[in-house]
Amino acid sequence: MAADAAETEYTQGYDFVVVANRLAVNRITQEDGTEDWQRSPGGLVTALAPIMAASEGAWVGWHGAPDETLEPFDHEGMHLHPVPLSEQEVEFYYEGFSNGTLWPLYHDVIARPLFHRRWWDAYRRVNQRFAEAAAQVAARGATVWVQDYQLQLVPQMLRDLRPDVKIGFFNHIPFPPPGLFAQLPWRHSVLRGLLGADLIGFQRDSDARNFQRAVRHRLGHYIKADQIYVPLQEEDDAGSQIPGFSADPSRGTAPRQLSAPAPGSHRVAEARAFPISIDTDTIVDLAGREDIIARSKEIREELGNPETVFLGVDRLDYTKGIRHRMKAYEELLHDGDLEVGQACLVQIASPSREGVESYQRLRDEIELTVGRINGEFDTMGHTAIRYLHHSYPIEEMVALYLAADVMLVTALRDGMNLVAKEYVAARKDATGVLVLSEFTGAADQLRQALLINPHDIDELKAAMVKAAQIDPDDAKKRMRSLRRQVVSHNVKRWAQDFLDRLHHL
Ligand code: G6P
Repeated sequence: MAADAAETEYTQGYDFVVVANRLAVNRITQEDGTEDWQRSPGGLVTALAPIMAASEGAWVGWHGAPDETLEPFDHEGMHLHPVPLSEQEVEFYYEGFSNGTLWPLYHDVIARPLFHRRWWDAYRRVNQRFAEAAAQVAARGATVWVQDYQLQLVPQMLRDLRPDVKIGFFNHIPFPPPGLFAQLPWRHSVLRGLLGADLIGFQRDSDARNFQRAVRHRLGHYIKADQIYVPLQEEDDAGSQIPGFSADPSRGTAPRQLSAPAPGSHRVAEARAFPISIDTDTIVDLAGREDIIARSKEIREELGNPETVFLGVDRLDYTKGIRHRMKAYEELLHDGDLEVGQACLVQIASPSREGVESYQRLRDEIELTVGRINGEFDTMGHTAIRYLHHSYPIEEMVALYLAADVMLVTALRDGMNLVAKEYVAARKDATGVLVLSEFTGAADQLRQALLINPHDIDELKAAMVKAAQIDPDDAKKRMRSLRRQVVSHNVKRWAQDFLDRLHHL
């Protein structure tokens, strides 16, 4: 379906538009050498695909290759609208501002955020391009759902172009406390960008509160029961005030508005938590498949049938606490609390953001640590850490979840952590123990996990030992309760809750 906005006045556009940095499909090369597209395996795509198919849906996003312009195309009931990025935009907007500035700033400055004006300029330019693409494909009165920190300016930019559409935004990563957010030289522009949405969703209540506090403190807006009163005349000044000069339009703090503004002088944006989940049905089905159960047994055999298999599954990212986990494990081996052969740690570290320096450094550090630990503790027949720097298909992941006695999620800060939920969903017989960092969004819902502070290495060690030796009844009780939570809150329900609320506003 063509969607030429000018000619059709949006009557032929799409009723439901998702805007995300990445498109919902990956390019694959077939055996005969031809290229094709395959739907991305992530939970977000799985949750939104049926909604797309049922309601004339379009997905706007970058297809992952620099310097390539692709025509829009349809795939499995979804209209895909690729947004091109030049090689320099990949460097400045994606690797730079998104993953060298916002990512570390929003994750408690675990790594130092870098503030470069040329990165910000690219971020604004690319956000404008995404907003224009969304404006082009959306039907009159459509619902547009913008995803994540790479696109925080899109809601207001889109509202300026298309005041007729309903705009939702969901932040998949944490929103930082005001004291950290204050470091961002362009903090006002980011807040105004987000406030262009009718509904702004966060993972945790604490994220929504951090955002509200930043808005109150920086912009002075009146806020009552998650509703932010956005003055209408402010909507004009979200961009740069001086041509060619990219500083934030207003600085410092604003006087706080203490009572509700006069009717007609504002619009309302709601900010609250909608904790995301996983496609539980798919994981549960895979966990019951004969071949996957057989594969999980094979994995344990390949590891030499240790009594306790510890498992870590992460993108290779400094937020995940992989080093803390390894330090705890190394000390346990050193002190004789665990023994190689009896215990094994499988660490899957999927390659991520390899163009960003802090990720390159992290990889070197992790690989040095793995080499050191294995060099010291391996025996001829058994390894201390089986480290795999690969991504695996979901079938193999579920086999790994089934093979693991203990899942280690030790993130120093994580918006949600879906791996924790996948592990729980896969443990159909209610065996297995989840060790979970309290700094993940998942910790708000998975209260029966062994909750730990990953900075407290002694606490982490104690939890790992407890997990290895846990009384099976205690483990079952905990896992049953965790499973009840995960099974009743799948990602489809998350999407529906968000969209229902957006339509209600
Ligand atoms: C996190 C972010 C996503 C991002 C994903 C993978 O989960 O919230 O927006 O897509 O990491 O990172 P990448 O940089 O490869 O898109």
